[in-house]
Parts: sequence; structure tokens; C-alpha cells
Amino acid sequence: MTKVAFLLNGTPICIEGQPPTRTLLDYLRETQGLCGTKEGCNEGDCGACTVMVTDDAGVRALNACILFLPQLDGKAVRTVEGISGPSGQMHPVQTAMVEHHGSQCGFCTPGFVVSMAVAHANGQTDHDTTLAGNLCRCTGYAPIIRAAQAAEAKVVPAWMITDAARLAAMGHDGGLVSAVEFRPTTTAQLAGWYLANPNATLIAGATDVGLWVTKQLRDLTQIAFLNAIADLKGIETAGDQITIGAGTTITDLLEAMRPVHPSFAELLRRYASVQVRNAATIGGNIANGSPIADAPPALIAMGARLTLQQGDTRRDIALEDFFVAYRKQDRRPGEFVHSVTIPTAAPSLRCYKLSKRFDQDISAVCGCFNITVKAGKVTSARIAFGGMAGTPKRALTVEAALMGQAWNLPAITAAMALFGTDYQPLSDMRATGEYRLQTAKNMLVRYFHDLAGAPVSVLEVQS
Ligand SMILES: Cc1cc2nc3c(=O)[nH]c(=O)nc-3n(C[C@H](O)[C@H](O)[C@H](O)COP(=O)(O)OP(=O)(O)OC[C@H]3O[C@@H](n4cnc5c(N)ncnc54)[C@H](O)[C@@H]3O)c2cc1C
Ligand code: FES
Ligand code: FES
Repeated sequence: MTKVAFLLNGTPICIEGQPPTRTLLDYLRETQGLCGTKEGCNEGDCGACTVMVTDDAGVRALNACILFLPQLDGKAVRTVEGISGPSGQMHPVQTAMVEHHGSQCGFCTPGFVVSMAVAHANGQTDHDTTLAGNLCRCTGYAPIIRAAQAAEAKVVPAWMITDAARLAAMGHDGGLVSAVEFRPTTTAQLAGWYLANPNATLIAGATDVGLWVTKQLRDLTQIAFLNAIADLKGIETAGDQITIGAGTTITDLLEAMRPVHPSFAELLRRYASVQVRNAATIGGNIANGSPIADAPPALIAMGARLTLQQGDTRRDIALEDFFVAYRKQDRRPGEFVHSVTIPTAAPSLRCYKLSKRFDQDISAVCGCFNITVKAGKVTSARIAFGGMAGTPKRALTVEAALMGQAWNLPAITAAMALFGTDYQPLSDMRATGEYRLQTAKNMLVRYFHDLAGAPVSVLEVQS
């Protein structure tokens, strides 16, 4: 049983006697009677359960349905009930939703209001992005976007800016150790404990593990929560290398990648939604070993190195070698992902994500290309795909066929045929194998035109 202290709608609470995999959503609705936070999908997809979470890193929106109580220790949570003022005053985004008719059945509305209040607090006005993780089935998005725009210039209400100060005054004990749950605050603590408990489950953002609990109803008997480990997070540049700590969220990675690897950043912008990116970590995206995870193909195309840690020992491998077979990774007992290192420069990197929806959808195919052309000839080629095999995988035969060749459409057409040697993709609910193979080939042609400066993105060719 866990012990967790946090601010809930401005009031300090201490929870004891709950299992460590109790979700915030269940706790709010079943124990606190805070039923404004809705349960829609219970798997991070719809945003009906969005809450506002404040900590040292700032204010962000998270999905309560895949957020375990221990992940909130020492933080401040605001539900939709805490978005309005203590005397019932409406928040400017609530007033705007009324005035612009942003709600019909109202089921999605609390989630929208919380996402809008977070964006309002952070001064974010790209509402297509900040609301991409909130689904509305009846109102339509135009009135909701108009409401968000109408609230932009309004002052953040006083009651919304008290959490950071109250948190500081509240103090916090830090880590916790019990028979079933460990909350380390340093990488060294994690390394020692995990070596002694190699069968434990590591939980970083819980955007995968959360679903093991809510959908697969799995019992996790021994857990280490990684989100309080400060030295496992962060992005550092040294010389021509960038090292990304495993605990870095996709949101923080996206912001850091914008100026250096804009195509990778654009891929990350299409990774799930704001709520999921605010929780999910790069370490979890790699360690989970999914063949359709979005970051690995881009990282492999850049020649990323992965640092793994077991006890006091660290080893460094090429990221592509980590993925041994479907859901089988090169990880030793008690070993965890420490960081991933990429070059500061990869000007030819382009990443293409193909999914049924633009936002908030898993890739059917994700192709990443990093080909250098000098004096009209290919001098280096790295191509990696997700969704084409049981692991994220390089197109080694295609790369070899391109090397040393003239960079033109006849050479590309000849190389395209070899995708069938590198990949025999499966058919599933996202796409057929034939479709995947054809689109992978087409992406190479798209890449050729993209490098030549032609508009190839669906956003660029919109009227
Ligand atoms: C609604 C929704 C949409 C999604 N959309 C996308 C998408 O568009 N693209 C995409 O790629 N993914 C997507 N995902 C999947 C998910 O967000 C990612 O795989 C995520 O990066 C996992 O990170 P996490 O920190 O949440 O991992 P967790 O769920 O905490 O952990 C995942 C796995 O990694 C292990 N782990 C975590 N950290 C470490 C570490 N440092 N060392 C060793 N093992 C570790 C855990 O034990 C577990 O096995 C989506 C998920 C949801 C719920
Ligand atoms: S209930 Fe759908 S995201 Fe949480
Ligand atoms: S108002 Fe009905 S789902 Fe959005």
C-alpha cells in the first residue's frame, strides 16, 4: 500500500492504504466524489479525464486514467472542480465555452476546460495542438476553438496561480521504499535497487504500463516509479553529441529538437497528444520495444547510441542492436535505459509518419531517412522504419544499393524494389502488408523531392 501527499484543488491531502497502481481517475471519482473528471476510454485516448498538474517543471495537462497515485507525490492537482474559483466564479475559459456554445452533451467538456485552462495558464495559443488530445463527438471543434481564442487575452485568475507557492510551503519527504514500491530520487538508488530486484516493473510515464493495469487488468507486484529521478532527465549537448536522459518527457524532447532536428520534432508533434507527451518518456518509448514506437526509427536513422546501466556498470550500444526480435530487447537482469545519444547535426534527416488520423494516432508506417549526397552521389545512407517488421529496423539492402550511386530518380526507382528484401510487413488493423511496403517505397521518392525543396507535407500542400 502506498503513501502519497499532494495538493488537490489547493488543499493538501495525504493518501494511505491505496494500492500503488490505483489511478488518479478512480481515486477522484470513487473516493473523493470529484466526478467532473470523466472516464471515457480509460486508455489515454480521449482526454475526458484531463487534469492540471503543477510541479517544479511548470503546469501541464495529464490524463488521470493512466496516472498512478504515486506519480503525483509532491505535486499539485487541479480537477475541473478546482478550475472555477473558491466561490464558484467561472474561469475565463468556462465563460468563453458558454458564450461560444462550446458544449452540447457536455461529457467531454470538463476535459476540454482543463486542457484550455492549462494552455491559458501557459500562454499557449496553438489550440489545434493543445486540444488534439480531447475528443468531442457532438459539438464540433469550431465553437470550442473560438472559445479558446476568446479567452486568450483574459487574465489568469488569482486562484489558479497559488499552487506553486502552496507546494513550496507544503514541503515534501521525497523517496519512499516499501516491500512493493520504490520511489528513487537518484539514478544510483534505482541502479542498486533494481539490481537486487530485477523482476520489478519500472514505471516512467505509465503511458504503456497504465494500460497494462486499466485494460489488461494485470497485477504489478513490485514497482519502481522513475518520475522523481532528476538526474535521469534532461538533455545535454557536448561537442557534436546530444545526450537525452531516459526520463526526459516527449514534450521536453520535442522542444529541444525543434531548432536542431526539426523533422524529428515534427514527428514528435504527431506523437499521441499533449497529455500523453507530457507523461511519456523517451526511455519508456525505447525500452517498451514496440515495433511501432515513433522515436526509435528517427533515432536509428541518426545513428543513435543507447546507454544501459546495470548496477554501477554502463554499456553503450548502437540503438538498432537493442531491438533483438519482436518485444525482445538486449537487456540484462537489473539493467535499465540510462540515456540515448544523437549527433547535433543531421541536416538531411526527414521523418514521415503515416497514420489514419493526423493527431493522436499510432503509426501504421514510420519512415526516417538520413542520406548524405556529395557531388551528386550518395556518400552515406541510413534508413529506418517502424511498422515494417517485428522491431524498428534499418533498410540495410536499400541503403547498400543507394551507396555510391547518383542521387536521381532512376537510381531511387531501382533501390525501391529492394524494400521487399529488407521488410516483409504484416497485415493488421492499421494497414495491410502490401500497403505498408508500397508506402515505404513511396516515402523514398517523397524524400528525394523533399530534399530538393518540393512541398511534400499534407500541411504544406493544403490550400
Ligand atoms: C493514447 C496513447 C497514444 C500513444 N501514441 C503514441 C504515438 O503516437 N507514438 C508512440 O511512439 N507511442 C505512442 N504511445 C505509446 C507510449 O506513449 C510510449 O511507448 C511511451 O513513450 C512510453 O513511455 P512511458 O514513459 O510512458 O513508459 P512506461 O509506460 O512507464 O513504460 C513502458 C515500458 O518501458 C519500461 N521502462 C520505462 N522506462 C524505462 C527505463 N528507463 N529503463 C528500462 N525500462 C524502462 C517499463 O518498465 C515498461 O516496460 C501512445 C500511448 C497512449 C496511451
Ligand atoms: S478516459 Fe480517455 S483519456 Fe482518460
Ligand atoms: S459535447 Fe458531447 S462529446 Fe463533446
